[in-house]
Amino acid sequence: MAKTVHISKKKKGDSHLSERKAARAAQDLIIKNSLSLIRDKFMVMSGKGGVGKTSVAANLAMALSKQGASVGLMDVDLHGPDIPRILGLKGVLEASVDGRIKPKPYSDNLEVVSVGSMAGDPDKAVIWRGPLKLQVIRQFISGVQWGKLDYLIIDSPPGTGDELLNDAAKMKWKFSLSSNMP
Ligand SMILES: Nc1ncnc2c1ncn2[C@@H]1O[C@H](COP(=O)(O)OP(=O)(O)OP(=O)(O)O)[C@@H](O)[C@H]1O
Ligand SMILES: [Mg+2]
Repeated sequence: MAKTVHISKKKKGDSHLSERKAARAAQDLIIKNSLSLIRDKFMVMSGKGGVGKTSVAANLAMALSKQGASVGLMDVDLHGPDIPRILGLKGVLEASVDGRIKPKPYSDNLEVVSVGSMAGDPDKAVIWRGPLKLQVIRQFISGVQWGKLDYLIIDSPPGTGDELLNDAAKMKWKFSLSSNMP
């Protein structure tokens, strides 16, 4: 009797595990397809806060887009999403027909995604935890309809940790810019 219970529990756990694996594999495929449409990816990061990451990311995105390149700017700073403020972007992000998020156009060839525009009110406190916090780059690439881009630029939170760097490393970024001004 006890043996039967043990086996059925194990089977349930196994099926959850394989469902999770299948979901991750499906997300990997979407990420691969999305990244194949993006020529170069930049990640702006620093161990410290307030050193100019957001300024560098926003200026780089503006400069490249003004030269005619199509640029995506992704703000993954969950606790202090400053990109909408620095660019003066207002309004909430919309979902497309397939349920992915449509980036917000800043100009003809610069599009932006920020958690600040997801919350609606940029001053509202949002608590992010669990899988989204750990896998925000994966979510923001797979869940956003970026389309064809010359450059994707990421503005990272201060003290970008192992989990974000692991995700970034797997996605084969061409450049990472470290902003360390005092
Ligand atoms: N090159 C610079 N020279 C002088 N001041 C700067 C420079 N770059 C940014 N600043 C100022 O420093 C402050 C912090 O800049 P910014 O928000 O870009 O930093 P951050 O690293 O993104 O901060 P956080 O870690 O909080 O996200 C801002 O007030 C900004 O105007
Ligand atoms: Mg910042």
